[in-house]
Formats: sequence, C-alpha cells, structure tokens
Amino acid sequence: MSTLNVGVIGCGNISGIYFQNIPGYRGLTLRACADVKHDVALAQASKYGTKALSVDDLLADPDIDLVVNLTIPSAHFGVSLAALSAGKHVFSEKPLAVDFEQGRKLVDEAEARGLHLGCAPDTFLGAGGRLARKLVDDGEIGRILSGTAFLMSHGMEHWHPDPEFFFKPGGGPILDMAPYYLSALVNLIGPVQRVVAISGIGFPERIVTSDSPRKGHRIAVETPTHVMSLLEFASGAQITFCMSWDVWKHSHPAIEIYGSEGSLRVPDPNFFGGQVDISDRGGDWRNVDSSGMPLGSPNWRSPNWAPEMPDRANYRALGLADLASAVLNGTPHRSSGRLGLHVLEIMHSILESAATGEPKPITTSLERPAPLDDGEAAGLWRGVTKASSAA
Ligand SMILES: NC(=O)c1ccc[n+]([C@@H]2O[C@H](COP(=O)([O-])OP(=O)(O)OC[C@H]3O[C@@H](n4cnc5c(N)ncnc54)[C@H](O)[C@@H]3O)[C@@H](O)[C@H]2O)c1
Repeated sequence: MSTLNVGVIGCGNISGIYFQNIPGYRGLTLRACADVKHDVALAQASKYGTKALSVDDLLADPDIDLVVNLTIPSAHFGVSLAALSAGKHVFSEKPLAVDFEQGRKLVDEAEARGLHLGCAPDTFLGAGGRLARKLVDDGEIGRILSGTAFLMSHGMEHWHPDPEFFFKPGGGPILDMAPYYLSALVNLIGPVQRVVAISGIGFPERIVTSDSPRKGHRIAVETPTHVMSLLEFASGAQITFCMSWDVWKHSHPAIEIYGSEGSLRVPDPNFFGGQVDISDRGGDWRNVDSSGMPLGSPNWRSPNWAPEMPDRANYRALGLADLASAVLNGTPHRSSGRLGLHVLEIMHSILESAATGEPKPITTSLERPAPLDDGEAAGLWRGVTKASSAA
C-alpha cells in the first residue's frame, strides 16, 4: 500500500482547506466525505470532486483507511470512537475530545487496536515551527528558562457563520485556540508538569455580526473568555500563558521564549510559515524568514481579512500526511493523539485551576515530537495543482 484512502466527516467551515490540500500530500487519496447535514456533504463533494456518503456508510466502507474528523468539538469523541471501532485510523481536528477521560479512551482504543490516532494542530510542523525548533535544538538560545504566549482578540462572532459553539462549554479561547500555542510550546520545550490560572467572562452575551443566516443572533456566554495562566514545564521552564476573546487590540507577540543565551520570537502558531526573530544575549533581533522553506510560502488568505493583510502559509492536512507516512513508512508520528491528550489535560487543568484557585499537576507526559527536517517535509508535499484544487 502506498497511500491511505481518506474519508472526511464534517464538511463545515474548516473542511475547505483540508479538501484543497489533501491532494497535495503524498500518501493520501481523498475517497469520500460525510456530514450529518447531507446537503453540506453533497456541496463539498461536488466542489472538490469526491463522493458524499452518509456518516454510517462512510464508516462501514472497507475502502476507507483514514477518517478525518472535522466535526464540532462536542462530536469529536463519538465520531472518532466510531471510526476507530470500524478499524480506521483517525485524525481529529482539535481538541481531541471535550472531556479528558474521553480523550484518554480514544488514545487507549487506538493503541489497543494498533491504529494511529492523530490530532490537530499540525501547524508546528510547518516551516516557522520547524525553524524555531531547529534554533532551539541547535542551542542558539541556550537552556529555556521562561517565556510568554498571547492569543488575544475580540472573539469569533464577527467572522464565523455559526459561532455559538465557541461560547459554550467545550469552546472558549482555551479549548479552541490554546491547542496551537500548547502544541508549539511542547514541541519546543517538552511536557508541562503543573499549571495555575485565573479566568473571567468579560462580555456575558455575544451578538453574531458575521454576514450569515445567524446574523443578529444573541449567544449567552457559558465558558470563560479571558484566561491567564502560568505553565511550569518538566524542564523547569515557566511560561506566562494568556488566551482571551475579551481584548480589542494589543501588542504582544504570539510566543516569546527566553533562554540562558538569548531570546526567540516564534511565529503565530495558527499558521505554517512566518518569521522567527532571535537575539543573542540582548543583541538586536535577527529576523529569519521561513517562507523559502518547504511548507512555508504564503498560499492562502481568509475571506474575512482586510485587503492589507498579507497571505499566510496554510498547509493544513500536513498532520494527515505525517500520520500516513507513519503508517506506510514507519516514520515518527508527530501530531499524535498522545500529544493531543497531553494538550487536552493542560487545557482542562488551566480551566479547573481557574475555577478552584488551586494549582493543578499534569498527569500525562510525553517526549517532544521527533523533529521534522526540511527534506522530510518536502517529501510529504507534492503541491496543489489547479486541477486538484477547486478552491
Ligand atoms: N473554522 C476554522 O477556522 C477552524 C480552524 C481550525 C480548526 N477548526 C476546528 O475544526 C472543527 C470544525 O470547525 P468548523 O469551524 O468547520 O465548524 P462548522 O460548524 O463550520 O462545521 C462542522 C460540521 O460538522 C458537522 N457535524 C456536526 N456533528 C456531526 C456529527 N456527529 N457527524 C457528522 N457531522 C457532524 C456539522 O453539520 C458541520 O457541517 C472544530 O473542531 C474546530 O475547532 C476550525
């Protein structure tokens, strides 16, 4: 077998970039898609040249090797468990599950069945993430002592057509956005061993302003939208970690890491490229651009962005190719379910610490994912041709 046949379940907002990119990766062949809303699956199938099945028929199809779960977070556990039970490898959008125990069950189920379970984000495998990892591994900033991570904005209701789930349990900036930052940090620093946090809800109600059928709909906010925490890593490094949808504007970089020999600015972990800035013992920032590296060149822009916003690198489905290569070639599996589970435990522990006022130890641990070198990254990507992309 030289390729895994892929079935996508969940054909909503994020599915387009997966449908666009899957044909660009070696080891993946798009075979079918499904959604509880069959008309949505039919529309994506027609746009991207595949077939729409019912969810049950896709899961029962012996031709499908790998199920990509792009449903909403509250459906992740049920869909992933059903796919594993049907003998399929699974790659899930983040978070791995809403509950930690459900996430653990998915990891155990996959391992008991000898199947691969992967979890987004895969952005840390993009050019910007790989460049930051190489600089850390080469000792350019010495021993990592501390750092900061900030995701602050004014929420999702101005762009997402149906943003209700973001403001309910299982949503919020921690479960929705922290996976990008935590996966990037674990990739650079290793596992987290303890967290402490406080949180709040700055705006108890949100009104949908995106141009969609939900425009004007009022959403009662039922999960913290402003969360400030401290992460203690097993290495001893300490990171200030702030995720908020209650902030109109700010000037903090996405991630800064402070080492014994220098400082590093890591590009936005929501994307695959970007510029890494490095300073040697307080010297001027040196800017290293990753756009010339494999999976680093800008290839995408959001329809919601102002015209002055530059295109960004968006190579989603890299984690599927990494999983497929692990299955087909025995290479390391990096954006794995075990990483997704560790990230899920950290996120719940942050929310629990904020609710109780107590620090929370983290019980799961793992080695940093194996680095992905430029040659391997280039080998996974054959590129999207006009014929293979209908986007
Ligand atoms: N929208 C983004 O920009 C974005 C970016 C990165 C990651 N994600 C993640 O991707 C996932 C999906 O987000 P989205 O924005 O595409 O949501 P969405 O609501 O636009 O789409 C989700 C789709 O899943 C379908 N669905 C729900 N439950 C299902 C079930 N049990 N079986 C089959 N289909 C089901 C829905 O009908 C819907 O079409 C979430 O986990 C989100 O965190 C989204």
